[in-house]
Amino acid sequence: MSFIKTLEKDLKESINELGYDLDKVTISISNRPDLGNYQINDAMRLAKVYKKNPNEIANNIVDKLNSDKRFVNVNVAGAGFINLSLSDEYLVQCMNKMIEDVYNNIDCQREKTIILDYGGANVAKALHVGHLRSANIGEALKRLANTLGVKTYADAHLGDWGRPIGLVMLELKKRKPNLPYFDSNFNGEYPKESPVTNELLMDLYPCASAKANIDEDYMEEAREMTAKFQNHDKGLMALWNHIMDVSKSDIKRIYDRLNTTFEIWNGESDAATYVPELVSYLESQNLVKFSEGAKIIELKEEDDDHEIPPLLLVKSNGTASYQTTDLACIFERVKNYNPDEIWYLTDARQALHFEQVFRAAKKSKIASDNLKLEFIPFGTINGLDGKPFKTRDGGVMTLESLLDLAKEECEKKILPNIVGEERDKIAEMVGVAAVKYADLIPYRTTDYIFDINKFSDLEGKTGPYLLYSTIRMKSLLNKAKDAQIDYQLVKTVKNEYDRDIMINLINLATSLTKSYESRSVNEVADYIYKLTSSYNKFYSENRVLDEKDSDLRSSWLALTNLVLNTNLMLLNILGINCPNKM
Ligand code: ARG
Repeated sequence: MSFIKTLEKDLKESINELGYDLDKVTISISNRPDLGNYQINDAMRLAKVYKKNPNEIANNIVDKLNSDKRFVNVNVAGAGFINLSLSDEYLVQCMNKMIEDVYNNIDCQREKTIILDYGGANVAKALHVGHLRSANIGEALKRLANTLGVKTYADAHLGDWGRPIGLVMLELKKRKPNLPYFDSNFNGEYPKESPVTNELLMDLYPCASAKANIDEDYMEEAREMTAKFQNHDKGLMALWNHIMDVSKSDIKRIYDRLNTTFEIWNGESDAATYVPELVSYLESQNLVKFSEGAKIIELKEEDDDHEIPPLLLVKSNGTASYQTTDLACIFERVKNYNPDEIWYLTDARQALHFEQVFRAAKKSKIASDNLKLEFIPFGTINGLDGKPFKTRDGGVMTLESLLDLAKEECEKKILPNIVGEERDKIAEMVGVAAVKYADLIPYRTTDYIFDINKFSDLEGKTGPYLLYSTIRMKSLLNKAKDAQIDYQLVKTVKNEYDRDIMINLINLATSLTKSYESRSVNEVADYIYKLTSSYNKFYSENRVLDEKDSDLRSSWLALTNLVLNTNLMLLNILGINCPNKM
């Protein structure tokens, strides 16, 4: 159990001993550090229950706390707020417990399994700026959940069964009508080599989509093509497999750049295989209705405060909708993984879609009462003009070009003596850090403006600042090692600077738990900045290696090492790699 949680538990007992019954005491980080590191506001709550003066209760509590060696400077302010700080002795003890095992200051979640559905990549279409947040936030939440002891599976849930593929196939057919995939009389073996490259796919889709937008006949042909492969036409399936292979490896390559990883690489097509079973199950539950040739499920409920349209289960041409594959996918996941929760990350515009799918899943008992389905939306990325981020000429910004842009900008910040391949690798790491950190620092649902100049700054609240500072800790410890200076434990609190670092380290558990509960890693992103800044302040005020008192010097090095390891753990949660120099 974390230090703060332990203190809260002990405090609750002390307050109970005073004759006040309360279920929980909350020690919160003070926003008035001049009065104390922490604050307790429970006296006010008790005063209401016991019809007493809050000041009197607060003073009773303070008397109790004063005899506890872990606290110093306990005082009452205002209408019964209790301020307190932690004693030096206790801080030192806590630091050494963290050095022994950082889990001495992390509160694990109860054991459970969560499937996280993020990324949102669509086969045959380029990943673009709109896919960035799902990949970053989803990956960070997965890593955070793992850190807190939760078992997770990340599923890419590729968009691999819808109209975009039909569009790509149609455009390919227009350009190369003689390919055997389009010939229903073809009986030979289809070529092993793919008829498309990724470059060609990146050209086919935008071209087809533009045509379909203005030409209803073309659109109708695309619908037919889509229905044809969804009905497993032999030639089109052979083509589909080629498109999948080519596109998937390119999608993987870009997710690799972002340190975004999936345990499951399934897609809508996998869920689609469960659709017949799903439909007959739903029919057996009497949930399916006919409407204009389509099969639907009514979802309206009496106390709805907004309109919930029916779920379109089977379209009139016999194909399944995006909603159906998501419903079938719950069916599939329950069967294969029996998760306790499923988390979905897409931008806020898909809220109604998931509301419909979740409601249908619950109504039909495909999702039992114990299965928690959670939609985790996020805000958009805007350009400097405040409108959705585009390329200079107003086109769609691909994720690839966005990462290249960040890399190019960050390359300028790297030491001139780093050259060649190493320079390239480090520029990539710093660029990715710049993009990811900027993406994770705003609260999840907040929109933000993409400003690479700001994000790559070595001095601001940025990824490069965090990397630069962390590298400096590494090199300080390397110098100590070269000078054969030994360090293991923290021995003392010397001044306000090392004290401030320690208080920040105590707050580690709180930030992890808050981020987990809000499903927004902005708390973690903010916390690592605070911790790093407190270290940098300390670093600029104290000359660690020149310190004459060898005990103090080794204590400071041990503290440095603890901050370094904590930073590396947190950067890893954020999905950011740290180079050894930059
Ligand atoms: N491919 C979808 C899109 O681009 C996002 C998939 C999200 N996950 C899901 N299970 N629907 O909009």
